[in-house]
Formats: sequence, structure tokens, C-alpha cells
Amino acid sequence: MPRVAARFALLPKYPLADVPEIKRRLKADGVDVIDLGAGDADLAPPPAAVAALKRSVDVVEMSRYPFQLGLPSFREQVAAWMARRFGVTVDPFSEVLPLIGSKEGVGHLAFAFVDAGDTTIVPDPGYQCYLGGTVFAGGVPYLVPLRPENDFLVPLEDIPGDVARRARILYLNYPNNPTTATAPREYLRDVVRWCREHDTVLVYDNAYSELAFDGYRPPSILEIEGAREVAIEFHSMSKTYNMTGWRIGWAAGAPALIAALSRVKTFLDAGASLLVQAAAQAALASYDDWVPQNIERFRVRRDAAAAALREAGYDVTVPRATMYLWLPVPGGASSEDFVRRALVEAGIVLMPGSALGAGGEGFFRVALTQPAERLAEAAQRLARLL
Ligand SMILES: Cc1ncc(COP(=O)(O)O)c(C=O)c1O
Repeated sequence: MPRVAARFALLPKYPLADVPEIKRRLKADGVDVIDLGAGDADLAPPPAAVAALKRSVDVVEMSRYPFQLGLPSFREQVAAWMARRFGVTVDPFSEVLPLIGSKEGVGHLAFAFVDAGDTTIVPDPGYQCYLGGTVFAGGVPYLVPLRPENDFLVPLEDIPGDVARRARILYLNYPNNPTTATAPREYLRDVVRWCREHDTVLVYDNAYSELAFDGYRPPSILEIEGAREVAIEFHSMSKTYNMTGWRIGWAAGAPALIAALSRVKTFLDAGASLLVQAAAQAALASYDDWVPQNIERFRVRRDAAAAALREAGYDVTVPRATMYLWLPVPGGASSEDFVRRALVEAGIVLMPGSALGAGGEGFFRVALTQPAERLAEAAQRLARLL
């Protein structure tokens, strides 16, 4: 067997690799497993997206390679949506790039800006493709712990000067997976200033920009003065529109950043399916008719899960954004041990904080990916573990 590249050893092992097998065995034994592990909702995509996909299948040209240009009308719809939602003007052709899901673009970006041995700044815990993108590009991630005492923000003042000087990319994600934290505008201004001072690319992962509650409207980083020179923002159709499996998202930002990512992708992929771009265009166009009710469904789930987990004895902070709850592990167990017990003793799949980086130890994540009754049932079963 030929050996794999040495960089594989730099990637973390998934702490609960045996979960799918345990889950399969429990189900075979008749256990009613409730899966709140992945951020992959059970809800339907917008009917407008489904209808557009069906129509597109009958159009022969839609079966061709998309390449990086993709569907011009999707780019135009994205630009119109960014203008309406954030008041941000982007040119559909030089400042927007369709992606095969935002993960694809975030992961590939490092190839454009990171040389062997370069440093990137990666929040810990965090979405693991920041780490993966950096490591595959030959870079060295500098992990910054996200702690409750800092409101789960990356404390810029704690980044040592020599790391800051070498940092090629700063990855940020607010509203945040997994901590559910949101970033105040003043903080975002500081971040943009910091990146400009250090000539660092700001990768702003805005996958949860729409999943926010109680009147909160997360901003685009491109709203912040000066951001255009350093920031590239990533958007996803997955969470807002329940389209995780369709694999579609986009990047928006300055032409030089977009062109660099597009060049990487030209050598590695042939673009997101035109059929899916047409569907995503229709979904974006149906925003007002569809998105508010979908967010309301998640709000109901959030409130049901938070109330039931509190009732069960857990320490719950009610998030104002994302599709998760982020809870301290009770009783000082490791997050992996706790999550294993939850599965084996209660039939509930959760995400251990440590699966998202060592900085997530001491916490676990609940995904609001099931109806309110199921979340309440899960909480009742989890009460047994206390
Ligand atoms: C923070 C964050 N960014 C990006 C993504 C990926 O989204 P997509 O499905 O668009 O690749 C996710 C998905 O879980 C996420 O949590």
C-alpha cells in the first residue's frame, strides 16, 4: 500500500469515529435514536427551488459544464440579494463566485494565499475546513481558543506579534458554529483594521447570516468600512434554505480575492451544477415569501429545546442565531465521554465540543434538526444522564 502524504498526520482524528456503527447497532436493536449531531435539518427546501430544478432538467444547455462563470442570472440574483439584505453593492461578475457549497470555497481559498510554512489564524473550536484548507496548502494553523469569557470572539490582542506579522489568513465565522456567538459591529471594525494593518486576508464565513432570531439581523463583513480591501465573505444556501445536499453557495468580495479563488477552482473543479444554480436563484428570489417562516420554525425549536434542557437540569444559554445550542458538559466529564453516554444510554446523537477542536472541550452541541417534540423528548432522555 503506497503511503499517504505526511500532512495527513497533521489533521486531527475524529474523536467519535465509531458513532455511525453504534447508531446502526442501536437502531437494529429497536432503539428510537434521535440524531442531533450534524447541522443538517430535516426540513424541505423552498418549493420555488424544487420547481426551478425540475424545469431546468428539461433544458439541454443546463446539462453542460458550468465552469467558474456558472449561470449569469444566478450571479445577478446574488448581487441583488446582497444589495437588498445588506445594502452592499457587488459586481455580479468580478465580485461574486458561485461555489459547490461554501465549504468548498472556504477550503480552497488557502491554496490562493498560503505558501508552505505560512501561518493562518484559526478559531478553536471551529468549522474544521479552516484547518483542513490550511494544512492541505502546506500552511501552519495558529489556533485561538474561543472562550466564554471573551464572548467566544477571537481576542485579537492575544495574538502574538510574530504570529500576526506572518498571518496570511484570519478565519472568522459569526454567527458562530459551534458556540452560537454573534459579533458586535465594533468588534468587526477592529478585525478589519487588524487585517488591514497586517495585510491578512479576512475569510468571513457567513453561513448562518439568516438564521437569527428575536429581530437580530447579522451583518455582512462587506458593510464594514475598509473591509473590501481585505475581506472575502462566504455564503451558503445550506442552512437558510434547507439545501445542504444541493451543494451551492457563493463568495463575495474584492475582484482580486475572487479572481484568485476562481483561478484555484479552475484547476480543481468545473463549477456548481447549472441546474442547482438555477434552483438557488429561485430560492433567493423567494426570500420574502419563504425564509421568515423557515426561521420561525427554527425559533420554535430553539425555544422548545432550551426550555426542555433547562427543565432537565442543563445549563442553557439561549442563542440569538444559528441552528445549535452550545452547552457546558455537566459534571466535569470529557465531552467525548458525555456524548458517548448520551448515545448508548439515551439514544441521542450529539456533537462533542472536542470534535470541533481541543478548544471545544468541556462543551457539547445540540443541532436543532428535529421537530420541537423530538427535541423535548431528547431533553427528557438526557435528564437521565445527570
Ligand atoms: C460555519 C460553517 N461554514 C460553512 C458550512 C458549510 O456550508 P455548505 O453546506 O455551504 O458547504 C457549515 C456547515 O455546517 C458551517 O457550519
